Amino acid sequence: MNPSRRTFIRGAAAFAAFPLLPIISARSYPRFQLGPNQRLQLAKVAVGGMGESDLEALAKHPNVDIVALCDVDGRGKEKYAAQFPKAQWFNDWREMFDKLGNKFDAVCVSTPDHMHAPVAMSAMNIGKHVYCQKPLAHSAYENRMLADFAKGHSKLVTQMGTQRSAMIGRRQQLQLLNDGLIGKIKSIHAWSDRPMGWWPQGNPMPTGGVKPPQWLAWDLWLGVAPTRPYVDKAYAPFMWRGTYDFGCGALGDMGCHILDNAFMAAHLGLPISVRCDCSDATNDQFPTKETITLKYAASDRTVAEGVTVMWYDGGLRPANALLGIPDGVDIRGNASVVIGEKGVMLCPLDPEYDKDSGQVTLSDAPQVWDNAKKSIKLDLPQLQRRNHWFHWVDGCFGKTTPEANFPFAGLLCESLSVGAAASHFANRDLLYDSKNFTFTNESNGAQYLKTKYRDGWSVKGLS
Ligand SMILES: NC(=O)c1ccc[n+]([C@@H]2O[C@H](COP(=O)([O-])OP(=O)(O)OC[C@H]3O[C@@H](n4cnc5c(N)ncnc54)[C@H](O)[C@@H]3O)[C@@H](O)[C@H]2O)c1
Repeated sequence: MNPSRRTFIRGAAAFAAFPLLPIISARSYPRFQLGPNQRLQLAKVAVGGMGESDLEALAKHPNVDIVALCDVDGRGKEKYAAQFPKAQWFNDWREMFDKLGNKFDAVCVSTPDHMHAPVAMSAMNIGKHVYCQKPLAHSAYENRMLADFAKGHSKLVTQMGTQRSAMIGRRQQLQLLNDGLIGKIKSIHAWSDRPMGWWPQGNPMPTGGVKPPQWLAWDLWLGVAPTRPYVDKAYAPFMWRGTYDFGCGALGDMGCHILDNAFMAAHLGLPISVRCDCSDATNDQFPTKETITLKYAASDRTVAEGVTVMWYDGGLRPANALLGIPDGVDIRGNASVVIGEKGVMLCPLDPEYDKDSGQVTLSDAPQVWDNAKKSIKLDLPQLQRRNHWFHWVDGCFGKTTPEANFPFAGLLCESLSVGAAASHFANRDLLYDSKNFTFTNESNGAQYLKTKYRDGWSVKGLS
């Protein structure tokens, strides 16, 4: 028995149910870099919602076998039995890791945000490559721990589920920013049309607790989060995003898609300070709309004064004039604007398609204006299509290096977690103490930056 190799530690009762055996033996998995004649044995944690998309996308790779499936919603078992007859089904990912940990190479995690880090870290602890949905983790601390672990274990191939970063338009944006087209970066603005109508925010804790449906293991859904009653349609599926215990609000949900290019191009580090302007955050939920200001020290890609990142959601958006973009340019939806010394780049998140023909009506390619707001004709790099999921799988075969790897994703998402935590202290400038995971001028910040796991839950490397 070798407890130091275990991924997680459960309460005494749970230990009794699953006797402690070494998970990894000398002849079993992990197999770090797979050879050309091998196949990636994949375990899937969460198969509903985005988990279904992830499962289908990964199963299409010609060198992937789905060998284990897990979801706290038992209805998936029947649904996938025919499609993946060889895959064993589990309700509890810890049991799956215990019983089958020596039969798979990699794990894909698509649970709600609060369970990303516990599952992903447990998987890496036993040497598994990990694809984890965005945002990488719930708290600032979890993001840092995942990033640091991945940095220290370079044989592990990791990827955050920001599949839009593989799209040609998004990669053209990044390449032109990296090429220095707009010069040193001065500031970054980004906005999202969430949460408006997508999921609830700005409400007190839902009332009307009922017995969870028989197919849902509610206690396992709660996982490391504090216990609360199940309320029909309040959290699962999808609606949990605006609740502090489970999600990261609109910034965490969309910021990883929208801000990744700007972050990567500006070589940003950790924020020095943060401020959330909002009026209706509650004890339980994020505000309905907010602006968040994050400040960063200078890097080799920014002006010497450092950079401010401004985030807007819930229908808020900066005026074109503030951004240096001509009036009349449509900046609705989800996008970022990077302001440099030599000009301004608009980086739309998504292309828009004609419903009937499927043709692109608005490209996600970058648009650039000079300091006189004159449009610059771009020589866009010609890029090949890329599949974000396959790029990670191919990384496990040593053929690629995924860009949304955990060291980058954790750095980006730590900023988003800090921004999300700031909504607990509305309209105040907070100094981020990144060494101690607190705010220098608000010691109550620590509980939101390094959240405590529920009694009975402890994950090696996280708690
Ligand atoms: N990359 C994208 O474009 C994109 C899009 C949507 C969602 N997401 C991300 O995917 C994740 C899931 O979001 P969603 O909208 O699918 O949520 P959802 O609530 O619709 O689905 C979550 C699924 O996870 C299952 N689940 C919950 N806890 C689990 C646990 N402990 N173990 C196993 N299964 C568990 C649920 O039963 C359900 O099947 C989130 O992190 C979200 O941010 C990413």
